[in-house]
Amino acid sequence: MAQIEAFSAVEVIVSKRDKKILSDLQIDWVIDAYTRGVVADEQMSALLMAILLNGMNSHEISRWTDAMINSGERMNWSMLDRPTVDKHSTGGVGDKITLPLAPLVAACGGAVPQLSGRGLGHTGGTLDKLESIPGWRASLSNKEMLAVLQSCGAVICAAGAGLAPADKKLYALRDVTATVEAIPLIASSIMSKKIAEGTSALVLDVKTGIGAFMPDPERARELAHTMVGLGKRAGVKTRALVTAMDVPLGLTAGNALEVRESVEVLAGAGPADIVELTLILAREMLDAAGVKGKDPEIALRDGSAMDVWRAMIKAQGGDPDATLPRANEQAVFVAAESGTMLSMDAMKVGIATWRLGAGRSRQGETVQAGAGIEIHCKPGEKIVQGAPIFTLHTDTPERFGRAIEILSDAVVIGDLPTGGKVERLPLILDRIVD
Ligand code: URA
Repeated sequence: MAQIEAFSAVEVIVSKRDKKILSDLQIDWVIDAYTRGVVADEQMSALLMAILLNGMNSHEISRWTDAMINSGERMNWSMLDRPTVDKHSTGGVGDKITLPLAPLVAACGGAVPQLSGRGLGHTGGTLDKLESIPGWRASLSNKEMLAVLQSCGAVICAAGAGLAPADKKLYALRDVTATVEAIPLIASSIMSKKIAEGTSALVLDVKTGIGAFMPDPERARELAHTMVGLGKRAGVKTRALVTAMDVPLGLTAGNALEVRESVEVLAGAGPADIVELTLILAREMLDAAGVKGKDPEIALRDGSAMDVWRAMIKAQGGDPDATLPRANEQAVFVAAESGTMLSMDAMKVGIATWRLGAGRSRQGETVQAGAGIEIHCKPGEKIVQGAPIFTLHTDTPERFGRAIEILSDAVVIGDLPTGGKVERLPLILDRIVD
């Protein structure tokens, strides 16, 4: 016999359209009914747009998040002998921090159960990066995930179909209905997955600046506060850092290129901004989890973080010694004039990386492991005419033209006023603790 529905989708849409507060029962019903296919995509699209335009109060956001968590399973790591702690970044260009960070925190005494995603649009995805390592497998059963976590202290894998299924449907719908940008929807989407993942502590890296999907620092702060509030209500020790994404992080963007740079960091080298942010986030994670273990700087220096990385890659079928894929074709982009590099637009570098084949424009597309960009000069450095700024990599050279087109106005080279400094966002703009 058909289930009698408690509400109709239209009455829920009307409530939000007319700026009313949705009741707990309306929220529980609409998320459940959408997951069951009773509420149609076009009805949920209208509701999402009403939420984007009219907002939700903190109670509604919290209930919406709970309803998404309750649409699937909730993982439990209470059998582990160390506290669990995870990090989530809202994404940016060249943001490969998860790769060195997860093994580093494990080497210092935390357990890191990291469920990651794939890239869409101009930002890369952690799973796409790791999949450039020959043999490495992103899909693990819950049993396999636990085994890797127990043996290595850290695991990075894909979220299974059972985790927050409502978010999977909603996220795909938001992507095609221009409703990604609503803070209540972003906060509930991220936090439903992190709370369902079962971590006991969480550090959020909320990116801001031109290469972030929240370019305005005030909106990034609001998102950070909303997510920290949701974590606190759910009993997860949550903190957020608002960090700069005006310039790409590090000196590479693209899957295999970013793995190479991450391994350099684990070997005790690597670009200064990547090392600094990795250490800041590692200390924040260990502190949030109450772990008083080894100092992360020592764990990078003494090789213990690298040992965890190698074990973690092997445990998921990867070969940490394999040569990483390299794209078939390279092109060098040189400086048109001499001077100081005054700015580099992270968004344009991200789009160029994507145009070279490192990212996808539709879910399910394959990505080129070797495609991407090496950056030879960053803002604040001097450069002479004809010197390389970028090396572009792709397997499909017909992609160079469109990538070069967007890179041609991605950097500004000029003269600094005497005694002047290049204007950059500080690496850490804000810190929010629950
Ligand atoms: N990442 C998510 O998981 N959800 C969003 O809504 C935005 C970024």
